[in-house]
Amino acid sequence: MLEAIGDRCRAPGVPGDVLIDRWRAHFRQNGKSWAEFDWSEVDRLSPGERRIVARSIAAFQRGETGDGSNLVHWAAAKGGSPSHPFADLMGMFVQEEQRHARVLRRAMQVNGIARAERQWTDAIFRALRHGLGMLPALAILLAVEILACLYYDALARATGSPLLRRVASRICQDEADHVLFQCDLLGSFTCGWARWLRRAGAIGLTVAFAAAASIVWFEHRQVLRRGGFRLRSFFLTAGVSLHQALSTVERRASAA
Ligand SMILES: [Fe+2]
Ligand SMILES: [Fe+2]
Repeated sequence: MLEAIGDRCRAPGVPGDVLIDRWRAHFRQNGKSWAEFDWSEVDRLSPGERRIVARSIAAFQRGETGDGSNLVHWAAAKGGSPSHPFADLMGMFVQEEQRHARVLRRAMQVNGIARAERQWTDAIFRALRHGLGMLPALAILLAVEILACLYYDALARATGSPLLRRVASRICQDEADHVLFQCDLLGSFTCGWARWLRRAGAIGLTVAFAAAASIVWFEHRQVLRRGGFRLRSFFLTAGVSLHQALSTVERRASAA
C-alpha cells in the first residue's frame, strides 16, 4: 500500500506538483501491473455460492461504472486548463475504476450473472455525488473506497472460485490505494481551512459513513458474513478504517 504524501498545495483544492506527479506515476505503474486473468479457467461458482454472491457482485459492478467526467472537468477547472496534469491525474483514477467495472463484468459473464440495470444505493450515491459539489463528492468517494475495500476483501474470502478470489483481491488492493488518494485530495482541498471547520466536516462525514456502512451491511450481509465478518466486527473495522483515513486527511491538510 502506498504512503499518503503531503505536499504544499498552491491553493485549496489544487494539489501540489509533487503529489500530482507521484499519483500519476502510481496509476501508470499500476495499470501495467494488472495481471491478465485466465478467463478460460473452469472454476465456476457452485450454485449455492452463486445464489449468495450474484446480486451482490452485480450491485458493486454497477457502482464501478460511470464516465467520471464530472471529476475530470472539476480538476480541469481547478487547474485552469483541460490539459492540466491534475485533470490527467483524475482521468487516470477514473480509468482505474472503469477497469474494475470491466473485470467484474467479465467475471460475472463467466459465471452467468446478469448485470444490475438499476440499483437504488447506486442511484443515491450518484445523485449525491453530482448534486452536492466537489468537496462532498470527494468525501463520499472516501467513504465508498473504504467500504469497497472491506467488501472486496470479504468477497475474496467468501468464494471458493480461484478466479473470483484473484479478481476481488486485486480490486481490493486498488481500493486501498484509492483511500489514500482521496485522503491526499481532501487534504489539499481543506489545507487552508481552520481546524474547527475540518473537524466539523469530519463529524458530518462520520455520520454519512455510518449510514452508508449500515446500507452496505444490510444489502451485502450474506457475502460479508461468508467472508468472515459479523455485524460487530464489520462496523468496528469500518470505524477504525474511517478514523485512520480522517487522521491522514488532517495530517495532510495541516502539513500543506
Ligand atoms: Fe473500484
Ligand atoms: Fe476505488
